[in-house]
Amino acid sequence: RQAMSLPRLRDLAARGEKLTMLTCYDATFARVLEDAGVEILLVGDSLGNVIQGDTSTVPVALVDMEYHTRCVARGKRSAWLVADLPFGAYERSPEQAFDSAVKLMRAGAQMVKLEGGGVLVDTVRFLTERGIPVCAHLGLTPQRVHALGGFRVQGRDDAGAAVLRADAKAMAEAGAAMLVLELVPSSVGRQITEDNPGLLTIGIGAGASTSGQVLVLHDLLGITPGKRPRFVRDFTHVPGSEVGLGIRDAVRTYVDDVKALRFPDESIHGF
Ligand code: KIV
Ligand code: NA
Repeated sequence: RQAMSLPRLRDLAARGEKLTMLTCYDATFARVLEDAGVEILLVGDSLGNVIQGDTSTVPVALVDMEYHTRCVARGKRSAWLVADLPFGAYERSPEQAFDSAVKLMRAGAQMVKLEGGGVLVDTVRFLTERGIPVCAHLGLTPQRVHALGGFRVQGRDDAGAAVLRADAKAMAEAGAAMLVLELVPSSVGRQITEDNPGLLTIGIGAGASTSGQVLVLHDLLGITPGKRPRFVRDFTHVPGSEVGLGIRDAVRTYVDDVKALRFPDESIHGF
């Protein structure tokens, strides 16, 4: 398959095709996901939860992200590879963010993701002007879970929605090419996507109107311990059947359902 690039992803989105992103932490899954048609692999700091067994992403270290980025980069061939800048590795200054981003790029990332708006706009401009593609992340930003007071929907009221729209616009103007929107009302996901035609919006619990969707791999496979958030679907589960799908078919179903607008179903997965 032709290698993914930003122009190619923009071209797919412009033709109305929904993009699929999944988190990925190792070489074997990189190949499985990309063979199933997933265009974008995210080495998410959710590895703090699903790989390291922690209760938040706050303790994840930059060396952990470098290690898993290297693993995924070795396994993948054509997918676009995004890696998370972890908590503490970018907030202090644009220079700190640049040094951390270089480590992820050297490990094989093609784009880095960072959480938050406002004060991070200058950092996004600093990185993009120096050749580092950036994915912003707004809405629920799990690295700030303690400051936000828990994992809750963001931008529910008009004032909150307006701040998110302004942040998204500022990020796009600063050069961010992609934006993950997490746990926001469907209306906010739609507005931000309409506001910024050149920006690839990737939603998780953000409704069906974004340019694409992302899930944590372990959630899609139904193996994450504990309570599952509303926006998640276990794609191994076949309604009305006792027999589940294997990993390859579950991932293929996710890709097919996102492309055919069967996932997310706003009446089930929306806010
Ligand atoms: O770390 C992660 O898995 C993420 C996705 C939920 C977008 O940031
Ligand atoms: Na993350």
